[in-house]
Amino acid sequence: PEFDLAIRGGTIVTASDRYTADIGVRGGRIVQIASRITSAAEEIDASGLLVMPGGVDAHVHLSQPTSDGTVMADDFASGTRAAAAGGNTTVLPFALQEKGKSLRACVQEYHAKAEGNCVIDVSFHLIVSDPTPQVLGQELPALVRDGYTSFKVFMTYDDLKLDDSELLEVFEVARRERALVMVHAEGHDAIKHITRKLEEQGKTAPYYHAIAHSEIAEREATHRAISHAQLTDTPIMIVHVSGPDPMEQILWARRRGLKVLAETCPQYIALTKQDLAGLNMDFEGAKYVCSPPPRDHSSQEAIWQGLRDGTFDVFSSDHAPFRFDGPDNTGKNNPNARTSFKWVPNGIPGIETRLPILFSEGVSKGRITAERFVALTATNPARTYGLYPRKGSIMVGADADIVLWDAQKTAPIRQEDLHHGADYTPFEGMEITGWPVRTILRGKTVALDGAVTGAPGDGAYLARGPSEFV
Ligand code: URP
Ligand code: ZN
Ligand code: ZN
Ligand code: ZN
Repeated sequence: PEFDLAIRGGTIVTASDRYTADIGVRGGRIVQIASRITSAAEEIDASGLLVMPGGVDAHVHLSQPTSDGTVMADDFASGTRAAAAGGNTTVLPFALQEKGKSLRACVQEYHAKAEGNCVIDVSFHLIVSDPTPQVLGQELPALVRDGYTSFKVFMTYDDLKLDDSELLEVFEVARRERALVMVHAEGHDAIKHITRKLEEQGKTAPYYHAIAHSEIAEREATHRAISHAQLTDTPIMIVHVSGPDPMEQILWARRRGLKVLAETCPQYIALTKQDLAGLNMDFEGAKYVCSPPPRDHSSQEAIWQGLRDGTFDVFSSDHAPFRFDGPDNTGKNNPNARTSFKWVPNGIPGIETRLPILFSEGVSKGRITAERFVALTATNPARTYGLYPRKGSIMVGADADIVLWDAQKTAPIRQEDLHHGADYTPFEGMEITGWPVRTILRGKTVALDGAVTGAPGDGAYLARGPSEFV
């Protein structure tokens, strides 16, 4: 046979087009797209299905340690299994620099954790938490040249936050080295101030996390990051944008010609702060605690508008999974967290449900086109983070990373069907129309009808080129 694999008769969807054709795969790459291709060793009938680029989830946390002893529920094996089942072929987790440690040494630790364990392809963003002269002058430039072409900085969290002069220093390195800085934009002092007031009033339930992490603090920090980016002439990506207040700042910056990219996530279209109230302000709300927190229904509508009109470039999960009940108080439900929302681990699982939620709420309900879905979930993430054209599109020469999608299949999201390491999903019971039915990584089927058929080690590490936007 001429091909290793033929995918026949499906409706191919890219960021710009939709058409029916066969795809021929050889050596893990797409080598032909035509109305009819010749014989292949393996045949897949995709008639009646959408044939889309495998999802590129550009914001996930796997095996990332926390400073308070709580433990992320997914390592590279379970996290990439769940990602594959959810229609993804590439994920970009973070390699966190712990304070006082060499960034390079921390990156090596993440490679050791990932090596041989990944079911799909993986590349790393860095998190710069300790921008010493050594890190800024030597380690970071060398790492960018080695293919770690993006890094995240935090404006909040005691153990991660950079002050304004540190942000400016890091931005300058990014500009010089052509790296893309991802910014967690929430104003630390404002959050601390409101937290203290709430605690004084005995308002310690998980719900108050959503009050303390106010949209005003998010807006202020977004504007401050943009100002620093303007001062240093550095492109930035504002990650996990929760609603209209930070969006307004991003549009303000773009009107001035600044390169400010933006990401949003499923929690900002599928959850609201009311979810943090649990049942009558109880601790169930901890299952929904993430930062920034979900807002309200009008905010969800603003996010949809931004997904349609290009305010958002990328739609990522921000998968940051914690068990609710973890062993030895390592989960969200730990005695410390019950004393105040400020000790509830921040983050929710979503690596397996990102694509179904956006497809169902977006494409099936007519809010966005299938082409826009592909742009937000695969093509733009690949372009933004230096993986294009190898990843993120269906074209001759690209890796054969393909997801077959049944746009008609209807079923609820249920924890018992998911593959992640968390013991709950914040999206339990959500009715989904449109599910991935087969995930293909470089020509190999790694997930089929909700079961993972790929093995640890099928996934490879990807060194990246520069972002198209720097
Ligand atoms: O609450 C969240 N999002 N936790 C994950 C870390 C981050 O800030 O993205
Ligand atoms: Zn480390
Ligand atoms: Zn963040
Ligand atoms: Zn995150």
